[in-house]
Amino acid sequence: MKLLVTGAQGQVGHEIVALAAQRDIHLTALGRNDLDITAPQAVQGALETHRPDLVINAAAYTAVDLAESQPEAAFAVNRDGARHLASACAAIGLPLIHLSTDYIFDGRQSTPYREADPPAPLGRYGVSKWEGEEAVRALLPRHLIIRVSWVFGMHGKNFVKTILRLARERESLAVVDDQTGGPTAADDIARMLLDVAEKALQPGFSDWGTYHYQGTPAVTWHAFAHVIVAAARQRIELPVREIRPIPTAQFPTPAQRPANSRLDCQRIHDRLGIPMPEWRPAVQALILKLLD
Ligand SMILES: NC(=O)c1ccc[n+]([C@@H]2O[C@H](COP(=O)([O-])OP(=O)(O)OC[C@H]3O[C@@H](n4cnc5c(N)ncnc54)[C@H](OP(=O)(O)O)[C@@H]3O)[C@@H](O)[C@H]2O)c1
Repeated sequence: MKLLVTGAQGQVGHEIVALAAQRDIHLTALGRNDLDITAPQAVQGALETHRPDLVINAAAYTAVDLAESQPEAAFAVNRDGARHLASACAAIGLPLIHLSTDYIFDGRQSTPYREADPPAPLGRYGVSKWEGEEAVRALLPRHLIIRVSWVFGMHGKNFVKTILRLARERESLAVVDDQTGGPTAADDIARMLLDVAEKALQPGFSDWGTYHYQGTPAVTWHAFAHVIVAAARQRIELPVREIRPIPTAQFPTPAQRPANSRLDCQRIHDRLGIPMPEWRPAVQALILKLLD
C-alpha cells in the first residue's frame, strides 16, 4: 500500500510515520515545509509526483484560541487546504482520509454526538473544520472524514504535557470540570488510520463517508488531569497537592468549547471493525516516555 500523509510533523502525523515504518507500507510523509496545503498547485504537483494509492490529511491549523483573532490562517488551512486536497485527489482518482474534530458541535446535546447530528461550531476553528469537511464531501465521493477529539501524544502541545509540567511546578492546579469528552492518543489514531486505509483500498469497498473515533471512557478535563498526575506519581515525586475542579466560567478563553464533546463511535465499529481505544494505558505509556 502506497500512502501519502500531509502534516507529517504534527501529533498524529508523527505517529503515522512511526507506525508505517513497522508495517509493509510505502509512506510519503510530507511536513509543512515539504507541502503547504494552502497552495493548490503544490498539492496537485505532490500527488502527481508521488502517485499514492490513498492520501491522509493530518495537516491542520489547530490553535483553537488563536483562530478567533487569526481566522484567515485557520480557514486557509482547514477549509481551503482540505478543498485543494480533495480537488487534487478527485482529478487523479485518489481516495482521501481527512481528519476533523468534535469542535464542529456546540456540545449542548445531552448524549454522545452521532455523525449525522447537526453541526453548530462555537468558534472559528470549528467553523473552519466544518467547512473543510463540506468541501471534501462536495468534491470527492471516495472520502473518509474521521472526527477525533482531545488528542495527546509525544509530539506537539497537548493537555497531558501541560498538566505534567504544571504538576511539577505548582502545589495547586485548577482544572475545568464541566466539559466532558474522550481523550484520544495520537498513536491510536495513527493505527486506526492505517487500518482504515487498508480496508478502503480493498476491492469493492463502499463504506465512504463520515465517522467518529474517540478514546474511552469519557471524562472531564479535571478527571483526565487526575489520571495524568496519578500516572506521573508512580514514577516521580510531585509538589502538586490539590487539583481543584472549576467551572469553564472561571477559565475564560478566547474560543468557547463544547460542554459535551462525547462522540458516538458505533458506526466506525460496525462498518469498519474499529473499536474505541482505551486512553488510560496510552496516558501511562506516554508519561513513562516523557519522564524517561
Ligand atoms: N489536537 C487535538 O486535540 C485535536 C482534537 C480534535 C481534532 N483534531 C484534528 O486532528 C488532526 C490532527 O491534529 P494534530 O493534533 O496532529 O495537529 P497538530 O499537532 O497541530 O499537527 C498539524 C500539523 O499540520 C501542519 N500544518 C499547519 N498548516 C499547514 C499547511 N498549510 N500545510 C501543511 N501542513 C500544515 C502543522 O505544522 P506547524 O506546526 O508548523 O503549523 C502541524 O505539523 C487535525 O485535523 C485536527 O483538526 C485535533
